[in-house]
Amino acid sequence: MVARIQTVAFQGIDVLDIDVQVQMSGGIVAFTVVGLPDKAVGESRERVRASLHALGLSLPAKRITVNLAPADVLKEGSHFDLPIALALLTVMGVLPDEEMQRYCALGELALDGALTPVAGVLPAAINALANDRGLICPAACGGEAAWAGEGLDVLAPATLLALVNHFKGSQVLTPPKPRVQEEEASPLDLRDVKGNETAKRALEVAAAGSHNMLMMGPPGSGKSMLAARLPGLLPPLDPSEALEVSMIHSVAGLLEGGKLLRRRPFRDPHQSASLPALVGGGTRAKPGEISLAHQGVLFLDELPEFPRATLEALRQPLETGRATVSRVNGHVTYPARVQLVAAMNPCRCGHLDDASLACARAPKCAADYQSKISGPLFDRIDLHIDVPAVTPADLSLPPPAEGSAEVAARVALARAIQAERYARLAPPAPGQRPVRTNAEADGELLERAAAPDQPGRALLTDAAERMKLSARGYHRVMRVARTLADLEAKDAVTRRHVAEALSYRRIAPGR
Ligand SMILES: Nc1ncnc2c1ncn2[C@@H]1O[C@H](COP(=O)(O)OP(=O)(O)O)[C@@H](O)[C@H]1O
Ligand SMILES: [Mg+2]
Repeated sequence: MVARIQTVAFQGIDVLDIDVQVQMSGGIVAFTVVGLPDKAVGESRERVRASLHALGLSLPAKRITVNLAPADVLKEGSHFDLPIALALLTVMGVLPDEEMQRYCALGELALDGALTPVAGVLPAAINALANDRGLICPAACGGEAAWAGEGLDVLAPATLLALVNHFKGSQVLTPPKPRVQEEEASPLDLRDVKGNETAKRALEVAAAGSHNMLMMGPPGSGKSMLAARLPGLLPPLDPSEALEVSMIHSVAGLLEGGKLLRRRPFRDPHQSASLPALVGGGTRAKPGEISLAHQGVLFLDELPEFPRATLEALRQPLETGRATVSRVNGHVTYPARVQLVAAMNPCRCGHLDDASLACARAPKCAADYQSKISGPLFDRIDLHIDVPAVTPADLSLPPPAEGSAEVAARVALARAIQAERYARLAPPAPGQRPVRTNAEADGELLERAAAPDQPGRALLTDAAERMKLSARGYHRVMRVARTLADLEAKDAVTRRHVAEALSYRRIAPGR
């Protein structure tokens, strides 16, 4: 006899249906798992055997074969424990065969039969609903599964025993409720930053248009401090974004308590982070930091300290909004539309502009230090700003009147204007992500959305020639000028906006 249970495998955040088949037959007593299992799946035999024992059952002395179909897809992860155990219980006649066909199951088993949380429950739940099935998952993941929709039948037991009792009718499992992370205000306020008005203005512009930003300045000038305050200026995720971002965190196993994310992610990987940790992949396919920061901020502090290969690998995702990871058997793609914020010292000692502090090698060392970042990467950054050292006089100023709340309100308004404009100018094709911010507008769309008026255009053309702007640089100025006009709720992009946008141009290395 053969029993079947549906489960899933993950490719990026896409879900593949996997059929777990269990056959029990006469012959030499054995328990084998076939169908390209990785080590964790192979080891599930021992966990399944122990959890059945915890139910007071022992495996029949027969030849048991577990097949994971289709056989040519690599099965990774520990979530195959539960479907294998359920298929075994079905073939042993403990669970009703027909009813089990209506479910997709995923979960890890502990030796005592408890269900341990696993990654990927949210995409699995959405897939189950689309296939008209219910979902069986660990209790800790129930809140996540419930987000798939009202129509999804979710069984989220804490133990294997509770599930068996549910099907026997002696204990009823209550459907889990969808959970969201509490909306707590960021404790970091822009009011803490004294002086540095230009940098604060640039931070507001970056937040409004979702522009990539590079801050350069001596150590202790407040670069890290400013970057940490950016999340407090950004609007929360809208419901469809929240689902998309939570899917990525779910696949990475990082959705805390199965609660949907509301705040935009802010990821600040250390310079020692490996390339797979940043862009994704590794021995087990997992989204990298750039995907975990999807729809949010990726902050790279001390940019030149990152290995060159790592920085170059970020170029493609920054351009396309997707991170592609090569695997032995093809490649997977994760969404990665991020706002890059980077900070760096102008040279290794950091005091290039201050002759009394600078090292003997200035300014040569600055050119060396800054050349670690390639031109094309610089080119993908819309806003380049200088963050000069704060003076003792600045620090003794009273706190500024304006804090994060006031700035966030202006940012939200500017973002609403952008979303409305791009919905009108570039309605998305079915299945496509809509353009929502100026940072995403490019080419012909940008030309239609951000064309400056006559004096503005004249200034831009003139400056582009003198400053030797590349085509990308030219568009970057237009994009930022558009955001500046949006912050004032103005329709026309004028000479004043272009002039300010030009001031955020690339800082030449070794000035
Ligand atoms: N503009 C500022 N206003 C108030 N405190 C500041 C300012 N700039 C720097 N500081 C103080 O200096 C510390 C170091 O700042 P930090 O952001 O880490 O500098 P950087 O990253 O530029 O080296 C901060 O924790 C803060 O206490
Ligand atoms: Mg710093």
